[in-house]
Amino acid sequence: MRQIFLMLLTVGFFSCNQQKDHTKALQNRIDSLEIKLADTYKPGFGDFMGSIQAHHSKLWFAGQNENWKLADFEVHELLETIEDIEKFQSDRTETALLSMIIPPLDSINKSIQQKNAALFKTSYTSLTNACNTCHQAVEMEFNVVTIPETSPYTNQDFKPID
Ligand code: HEC
Repeated sequence: MRQIFLMLLTVGFFSCNQQKDHTKALQNRIDSLEIKLADTYKPGFGDFMGSIQAHHSKLWFAGQNENWKLADFEVHELLETIEDIEKFQSDRTETALLSMIIPPLDSINKSIQQKNAALFKTSYTSLTNACNTCHQAVEMEFNVVTIPETSPYTNQDFKPID
């Protein structure tokens, strides 16, 4: 009886030790994954804004050329970038203010569906004003967005093909 008890105790001791080793190995993996995750490249707020600036500009030339397919594409690029900021920069207080450009983007969407160049122009002006309203709200009033005059993209044709 005593022998059986001692045997059970020994088996119990070993399996308990094995469990401890397993937990330690898992903890080490979690630690190294956390270090890797912290080092993963994540675009900053300013990187996303650079992309927004490009699509804001391209959207204008698409609209001016009544290239509604391209204009639609550019609006969606802007919306996707906004979603990316909300996802990757959720801890920045400025992110909560981003929604202020949604109503003008909705209005641009409507102008694209209606192929309405006049509505496109007024909605685009509202969008540009919203960019600046937010920059003022985040104390970046020195960052002034304007309606572009000439396309900086000499390698892209904004005219529709059909
Ligand atoms: C949340 C409100 C907000 C809105 C809306 C917004 N911005 Fe910004 N923008 C910022 C912030 C914050 C920065 C500074 C980012 C940083 O920390 O680097 C910035 C920076 C910029 C920059 C400077 C980037 C550079 O490197 O020069 C440009 C250009 C820009 N925004 C364009 C726009 C355009 C175009 C729109 C509208 C389509 C817009 N922004 C709408 C908040 C906003």
